[in-house]
Amino acid sequence: MRILLSVCATAFSFLVPLSGWAQPQEMSDCASCHEDISKAYTSGVHGQAVKNGNAGAPDCAMCHADAHNDAKTAWRPSSQEFRKAVPDTCGMCHSEIAEQFKISVHGKAVEQGIRQAPICTDCHGEHNIISPKKIDSPVNAANIRETCARCHGDVRLTRRFGLPADRITSFDSSFHGLAAKSGSQTVANCSSCHGVHNILPSADEKSTVNAKNLPATCGKCHAGAGSRFSLGTIHIAEGKQEPEGLRWVRLAYLFLIPGVIGFMVLHNGADWIRKFRMLRIQGIPHSSLHSAHGEGEIRMLPMERLQHILLAVSFIVLAWTGFALKYPDEWWARPLLLWETTKTVRGVVHRAAAVVFMAVTLLHLCTLIFSKTLRHHWTEMFPRVQDVRETVMNFLYLLGLTKHKPAISSHSYIEKMEYWAVVWGAIVMILTGLLLWGNGLALRYIPKPWLDILNSIHFYEALLATLAIVVWHFYFVIFDPEVYPMDTAWMTGKSIRKRGNN
Ligand code: HEC
Ligand code: HEC
Ligand code: HEC
Ligand code: HEC
Ligand code: HEC
Ligand code: HEC
Ligand code: HEC
Repeated sequence: MRILLSVCATAFSFLVPLSGWAQPQEMSDCASCHEDISKAYTSGVHGQAVKNGNAGAPDCAMCHADAHNDAKTAWRPSSQEFRKAVPDTCGMCHSEIAEQFKISVHGKAVEQGIRQAPICTDCHGEHNIISPKKIDSPVNAANIRETCARCHGDVRLTRRFGLPADRITSFDSSFHGLAAKSGSQTVANCSSCHGVHNILPSADEKSTVNAKNLPATCGKCHAGAGSRFSLGTIHIAEGKQEPEGLRWVRLAYLFLIPGVIGFMVLHNGADWIRKFRMLRIQGIPHSSLHSAHGEGEIRMLPMERLQHILLAVSFIVLAWTGFALKYPDEWWARPLLLWETTKTVRGVVHRAAAVVFMAVTLLHLCTLIFSKTLRHHWTEMFPRVQDVRETVMNFLYLLGLTKHKPAISSHSYIEKMEYWAVVWGAIVMILTGLLLWGNGLALRYIPKPWLDILNSIHFYEALLATLAIVVWHFYFVIFDPEVYPMDTAWMTGKSIRKRGNN
């Protein structure tokens, strides 16, 4: 009996609010029925303001006049009339913003009754609105990309309104987007360029991203940007709309990288298999490949060894900190990016390593100018016609296309290719890197599309160099059975590789 009663009571308490029967006297206390929304409202900026006695902040009734008035439909938040009126509702108090918003592309679309266009609450939330300065706000600098992407990354929406579909991906692959993904909040987000409540199509002269206004917009952060040259396209996506020069650079590297690295893999793979067969299957003793430690001529002079160590350390740090920008989600990148929201640790370390790298380059140049011994040793690195023959013959031999192993000079084509690749790579990386480092100055004197090309070269050349070091250099100094586990020349100056063996 007691159970039956309590079931009835529960059912009754459910039915009462729905029936509207008990509403008239309780309507003012919205919280008693709309519990979740009231909670959200209380934690939001408006609820907090009301709680703190700010009479200017809205309560439920102010935004929901006539709620539950069955004679009108406009009180229902899902109705078109209600949505359309939201800018005015918020505009009762935030009038300046509402006026600005109404003449923006979004505001005009709302006015035309386009449901997909954002009203105030689509960006700010409805009841739990908080200050944009708080990290949890959907319009906080850290979250703006996500908020715009909800619509501008939506394929159906962009197709329907004829908007470019690549805005999010192109932002993500830009320097700003990459740095933002790493956590930086000083770089540009969608709103830094497009504005917030005053967003207009770029074709509109009043738009912050109209070509005419870009120098000022970029100039907020890059003083003097574009004052001499037009800035060009900003959202650059691979494919059809990519500027011509950029496409050529990408295509060139997309042939060069597989070509060069492919040759290296074939060359070293064949070499390894041949030596493996000799040692393991034919049973030739390992020692016959080595010259004993300490024997042999000096291959690296002390000065060269010092340069090599500095180069190696700065190269590894540069590669790590550079690729961390492009791949911020990888495990090896994360530790570096821990402080990125407040400090640009990654960028600073990258630049410090670049300074060391440039110093080594300079040191190398100076020692060649001032030391006769080093210069003499260096001339042995000059390519000769003979090297071409040795390369071809040895490659054919390694692939098993000739039986005869060709004699190879002491400073072989392998070392020479390595050395000149480093020289070439260093020149390219230093030139492009310096212009990107000095982007403030560069944006003033160089058209932006050129910077995009430099940026692209900087990335692809780094990729090529890193792969070459791993596949080519590491093979000959580490994985080659002749020297495994390591060629000691970089420490002792003497190689355990037999002279002329390769
Ligand atoms: C006695 C309980 C009760 C009280 C008090 C109450 N409501 Fe409601 N309200 C409901 C119920 C139940 C519904 C859903 C019924 C419907 O959609 O018609 C609803 C619907 C709504 C809706 C429409 C939701 C939608 O999705 O269309 C709004 C807006 C609303 N209430 C606002 C308020 C406001 C503002 C107050 C205080 C001034 C308030 N309500 C007080 C019970 C209540
Ligand atoms: C600053 C204005 C504002 C205040 C204050 C406000 N609302 Fe709302 N509310 C809105 C807007 C705008 C929507 C519709 C959002 C949309 O559909 O995008 C909405 C939607 C709703 C809905 C229906 C949609 C849903 O989320 O279920 C209910 C119910 C509601 N509000 C109740 C309340 C109650 C109760 C309070 C007070 C605790 C309150 N609102 C305070 C602006 C406000
Ligand atoms: C009745 C007046 C009123 C209405 C209507 C109103 N607001 Fe507010 N709003 C305020 C007041 C007052 C504050 C300041 C609260 C504080 O700082 O303590 C505020 C603060 C805010 C803030 C935080 C600003 C900041 O810098 O911290 C945002 C965002 C905001 N409102 C958005 C909205 C949106 C969106 C709507 C419409 C859905 C809306 N407001 C409707 C009065 C109103
Ligand atoms: C497309 C997304 C978007 C829409 C739509 C939008 N806002 Fe904002 N709003 C933002 C962003 C982003 C910020 C933060 C700007 C900043 O940090 O300077 C902001 C900041 C604010 C602020 C606090 C800062 C200030 O300038 O005082 C208020 C208040 C505000 N908006 C109200 C509104 C109102 C009212 C509407 C509707 C008329 C609206 N917003 C529509 C994105 C939007
Ligand atoms: C709720 C969905 C929505 C959100 C959120 C949104 N937009 Fe939009 N946006 C639209 C729609 C829909 C249009 C097309 C309006 C039209 O053409 O009538 C548009 C148009 C634009 C345009 C003009 C495009 C053109 O060429 O006409 C720009 C620029 C723009 N939005 C930038 C932004 C930025 C920046 C943000 C984030 C701060 C943002 N939008 C957030 C839906 C959204
Ligand atoms: C560094 C400045 C900058 C940033 C950051 C930026 N944009 Fe743009 N955006 C522009 C410029 C400039 C244009 C004009 C066309 C062009 O140059 O690509 C544009 C064009 C657009 C358009 C096409 C409509 C038009 O007005 O031409 C949309 C939509 C758009 N951006 C959305 C976004 C979104 C969403 C984000 C964030 C994910 C974003 N933009 C980030 C500068 C920027
Ligand atoms: C909110 C500030 C802000 C705005 C606005 C801004 N940038 Fe940047 N931008 C940065 C920051 C911060 C960096 C990183 C600078 C550094 O590390 O040296 C950067 C870096 C760059 C770089 C160099 C990195 C690279 O690899 O390409 C270029 C080029 C650039 N911005 C172009 C632009 C252009 C063009 C605009 C205008 C359409 C613009 N920025 C608008 C903050 C901004």
